[in-house]
Amino acid sequence: MTIQIQVNGRAQAVDAEPATPLLYVLRDDLQMNGAKFGCGLGQCGACTVMVGGEAVLSCITPLSAVGTRPVKTIEGLGTVDKPGALQRAFLQEQAAQCGYCIAGMVMRAQALLEKNPAPSDEQIREHMAINLCRCGTHMRILRAVRRAADGLQANGGKGGTL
Ligand code: FES
Ligand code: FES
Repeated sequence: MTIQIQVNGRAQAVDAEPATPLLYVLRDDLQMNGAKFGCGLGQCGACTVMVGGEAVLSCITPLSAVGTRPVKTIEGLGTVDKPGALQRAFLQEQAAQCGYCIAGMVMRAQALLEKNPAPSDEQIREHMAINLCRCGTHMRILRAVRRAADGLQANGGKGGTL
């Protein structure tokens, strides 16, 4: 059946069953391959995207659960030529090793900073803890999120834009 969803500000008509995981729809139907299939069981965070402003695990989120809430993926944050602020911070901190977890990490961090542009280090750690990185790059990832948050503060006191 045809289901309408909004992804990165664009309305998309998808021909899929309501029970199809959002991750499959993004990757297979919309060719948005940033979000990754890791465990497929809601345990690693590689598939993290934002739905209605929240970080969600798209491998265990059925299409039917999205409804009219906007979906945001890493493709919506910037491009290789014009990376967004958070993507730049990850580049500057060299936070990717193999890179497999990074799209999910960035989207989980994005969800935090959109809600709380001035998180404490403890809040960053707690928020990011769900997402796993096999390469052990966590300290650099945390530094990247810190850098982006500090940039928000420097850019406008009340948050600036990511
Ligand atoms: S692939 Fe979704 S949590 Fe691991
Ligand atoms: S950079 Fe390799 S899994 Fe995170």
